[in-house]
Amino acid sequence: MTDNILWDAIENRRSIYAIDDKISQSTQDIKQLVDFAVMHVPSAFNNQTTRTVLLVGAEHHKLWDMTKEILRKIVPADKFVETEEKIDICFRAGYGTVLFFIDESVNQEWQAKFPSYAENFPVWAHHSSGMHQFAVWTMLEELGLGATLQHYNPLIDQVVQEEWKLDKNWRLIAQMPFGRPVAAAGPKEFVPIEKRSLLFE
Ligand SMILES: Cc1cc2nc3c(=O)[nH]c(=O)nc-3n(C[C@H](O)[C@H](O)[C@H](O)COP(=O)(O)O)c2cc1C
Repeated sequence: MTDNILWDAIENRRSIYAIDDKISQSTQDIKQLVDFAVMHVPSAFNNQTTRTVLLVGAEHHKLWDMTKEILRKIVPADKFVETEEKIDICFRAGYGTVLFFIDESVNQEWQAKFPSYAENFPVWAHHSSGMHQFAVWTMLEELGLGATLQHYNPLIDQVVQEEWKLDKNWRLIAQMPFGRPVAAAGPKEFVPIEKRSLLFE
């Protein structure tokens, strides 16, 4: 029953912090993967609120250098050594980063169209964003790549918007640095499945 590529990819998708940039795929392969997820992952009313930016090479380095500079100003100096090392080894050392955004102008459009659902649209946009993140993460795993999910927003929102001249309605939701895995993920604990998933028949 579990001899299935999709099941394997879902199970094997892990947070992989030890990555480098020596991947065998091309940037176009990764762009195609991200585009595929953006096209096919669902959204409420098919309103397509998710936006992504793929950064590779020098642009990817720029993101993590800017993040470090912002953190340097707020993290105590003795702790910053650790912060810098984590960013360098776990994120910057990778091949690229996928940035996930929600286009809030789309939420506003749909709130105006369906006022009775007004409160739901921002929540649904986050649901859809999470699905996109999961799809990209799992597809990267299926290619043999490792990734993690990071949240340096809102600290980095402004520099990201300015550096890549992004639409001001795009709200940054998550950052996914990825690359060639150089160490496996650690063990993972599971709450007993019976406590989490019920069946009535
Ligand atoms: C909504 C969400 C937010 C997360 N935020 C972070 C984060 O900010 N930094 C991080 O290193 N991992 C983050 N993670 C990764 C989780 O810690 C990780 O997925 C979880 O511990 C299970 O481990 P696994 O990914 O190896 O299966 C996040 C995961 C989810 C689903």
